[in-house]
Amino acid sequence: MKVAIVKERRAFERRVAASPDTIKRMVGMGLEVVAETGAGEGAQFTDAAFATAGASIAADPATALGDADIVLKVQRPVIGEEAERDELKYLKRGTVLIGLLQPLRHPAEIRAYAGAGIVAFAIELLPRITRAQAMDALSSQANLAGYKAALEAADEFGRAFPMMMTAAGTIKAARVLVMGAGVAGLQAIATARRLGAIVSATDVRAAAKEQVESLGASFITVDEEAAQSAETAEGYAREMGEDFQRRQREKIREVLKRTDVVICTALIPGHKAPVLLTEGMLGELAPGSVVVDLAVEAGGNVEGSRLGDIVSTPQGVKIIGHANMPSRIAVDASQLYARNLFNFLTLLVDADGKLKIDTADEIIKATLLTENGAVVNPAVAAPAVANVQAAAVS
Ligand code: NAI
Repeated sequence: MKVAIVKERRAFERRVAASPDTIKRMVGMGLEVVAETGAGEGAQFTDAAFATAGASIAADPATALGDADIVLKVQRPVIGEEAERDELKYLKRGTVLIGLLQPLRHPAEIRAYAGAGIVAFAIELLPRITRAQAMDALSSQANLAGYKAALEAADEFGRAFPMMMTAAGTIKAARVLVMGAGVAGLQAIATARRLGAIVSATDVRAAAKEQVESLGASFITVDEEAAQSAETAEGYAREMGEDFQRRQREKIREVLKRTDVVICTALIPGHKAPVLLTEGMLGELAPGSVVVDLAVEAGGNVEGSRLGDIVSTPQGVKIIGHANMPSRIAVDASQLYARNLFNFLTLLVDADGKLKIDTADEIIKATLLTENGAVVNPAVAAPAVANVQAAAVS
């Protein structure tokens, strides 16, 4: 069976779906690996490193994808008229496609995969169960995004994060507020703490409090009672009502008066991200403050943030809206993502190196989008989700 790795062609993407380490492991499993030339360039993996690991190098995507049985991707393929090169048209029917395919935001593309006879798996639909942890690309990437968000904030901030007592005077420690304490938020907290900042954080989920406090940050509770029912069975946050949002904004408005840096990471799967900082609230921050909107691709937590840009408010607050934060730390992000995909692949390939798709396995079932020319995933096909998608930012 042939596994193909191609260069990622979407904007802001430097990651790649395989590393020399995972190529070696795939070859060890009896798989043939082909990589498009330059596929690993953005992540500092050379063709030579891929070839030494056992991959053959293809001159272009058509050659790499042409007779592939399995395609490993970071981003969803470029299809239709959005590129000179429609990656889907190179794939034969029955090809397995694995990647961060964003099925809830791009349902039409999922239908296109079905039409092309592709067997597609969306790695972000993995259930958050213990057995799936080694495949959990959302966690591996969010972790690095949180780390990088803290560093980007520190870099744009005109002051230091730690307190410093020098002969020329004392520098006060920066005060950092992290909004949304999931995987990314917790790593942003840990990183800001390592840099010496005084950190506080908030989240709608009650479970977040203990995790935040265990990292040495203080937790801001908005409504203890509402927090008890804010978490879904899958461990994600629910969309909170208007009353909660109003109280959250009032509380945070007060905190902003003594905050230098805000890192926003709040997401609700399948929905537009909640607006946590309104334009009015940003006015509470002192000039020179920095806000990172890690949710900018999902509609943004911060009013006025702009995808792929850093904007300054009239009061001199910088809002960082970098797109694809994990890609800004592409080497580690690719290493971890590649391992996530490799671990997932071991579920799909039997001891003889043959493909086996066991839909009785809950990991396979949850991630499988299309099979036999049809969209088979209820999370994508359900009308309730389709309504939500209309609100989501593409
Ligand atoms: P996410 O990326 O969907 O959201 C980020 C954070 O934003 C979450 O903590 C969420 O509660 C928070 N949030 C949403 N709306 C908010 C609002 N209005 N105000 C403030 N905060 C808001 O979440 P992520 O990071 O993917 O984690 C989701 C859950 O999954 C967590 O409970 C996490 O601990 C759990 N998890 C479990 C794993 C496992 O293997 N068991 C692995 C990774 C995560």
